[in-house]
Amino acid sequence: MSIKVAILGFGTVGSSVARILCDLKPQGVELTHIFNRSVARKRAEWVPSTVTWTESFDEVLASDANVIVELVGGLDPAGEWVRRALEAGKSAVTGNKKLIAQHGVELDRIARAHGASLFYGAAVAGGIPVIPGLQHGLAGDQVTRLEGILNGTCNYILSRMEEGAQFADVLKDAQSLGYAEANPSEDVDGYDARAKLVILSRIALRADLAVEDIPVRTITSIAAIDFEYAGELSCTIRQISRAETRGGALLATVGPMLVPKNSPLAWSRGTENMVLVGGKYGGDVVFSGHGAGGHPTAVAVVSDLITLAHGSGNIDLPSRKAEVSGEFLLRHYI
Ligand code: HSE
Repeated sequence: MSIKVAILGFGTVGSSVARILCDLKPQGVELTHIFNRSVARKRAEWVPSTVTWTESFDEVLASDANVIVELVGGLDPAGEWVRRALEAGKSAVTGNKKLIAQHGVELDRIARAHGASLFYGAAVAGGIPVIPGLQHGLAGDQVTRLEGILNGTCNYILSRMEEGAQFADVLKDAQSLGYAEANPSEDVDGYDARAKLVILSRIALRADLAVEDIPVRTITSIAAIDFEYAGELSCTIRQISRAETRGGALLATVGPMLVPKNSPLAWSRGTENMVLVGGKYGGDVVFSGHGAGGHPTAVAVVSDLITLAHGSGNIDLPSRKAEVSGEFLLRHYI
C-alpha cells in the first residue's frame, strides 16, 4: 500500500521526520502536507515544492493525505485532531506519550472501527524500538517484568550527580540540551516516565493501568550524600520505572532507586534510555539508546510509517547481490 502523509507540527521532531523522508524516500511513503500554526515562520526551502503547507487542520482532514503524523504534543487539540482523523478513516502515527497513556485504548478502538491504524512507536524511548520490539519481536513470550530508565533528563541529572555535580546546575544543562519537558516537574517528579510505563505495561503486561494509579517519587530529594551511601552498598541511584506481575498482582512504581553498579541500568549515562524486559520463556532482553531528540524520535515515526505502508510482513530486500570490498583487521578483537 502507498500512503500520503501529513505532518502536524513542524518543530524539532516534525522537521526531522520531513528531513528523513526527503533523504531516504522510503518506497510507498509520500509526504504531501505539513501543518504548522505559523507557516511563514517554519517554511523550509529543502522541503519539495510538491508538499502543501497549511495552517488549517480542516484542510488536512479534507485532503487526500491518508495518514497524519501528530507531533503537536499535549492532550488538546492534538487528541481531538487524532480522533477526528481516525474517524475519517485516516491512520495516525504519534509520538504523544501523554495522549496515548491517557486515551490510547479508546483511540485504538476508534481506529479499528474505521478501518484505520494507530501507531505510537515514538511515544516511549524515542528512537529505541521498544514498542515494536514488544508488539512483534517479543509477542511470543509472556512478559512478566519491565524495568528501565524512561526519562533521559533524570538520567542525565543523576548520572552527573554521581560524578559530583549539583542538582540545580545539571537541571539547567539538561534543559539546554532540549530534552527536558516545558515544565521540568514532568521529568524530575516522574510524571513523564509514568506515562511511558503505562503505555509499555499495556502492551507487554496486557495491563491497562490508570496513570494516577502508579505511585511516583521525585528525584529532587536526592542529594550528594545519597550517592555516598549508595556507593557503600556498591550501588548508584537512577530514576527507575518498574512494572511487574507477581502471582495475580501487578506492582508498578516510578522513582529514584538504588541500582547495583554491576547492573546494565547503572552503566547508562547522559540522556540514554534503557529498558529491561523479563520474559517467562525467553529470559531478559535489554533495549538501549537515545530516548529523545529530533532525529532518534523521528526514526521511530518514519519506521511506523514504513510499517503502515508495507504492512508488517515482507520487508524490502536488496534487488542485487553485494560483494565484500574489504576485510577488517581482526587483531583488535583477539
Ligand atoms: N523529557 C523527556 C525525557 C523527553 O527527558 O526523556 C523524551 O520523552
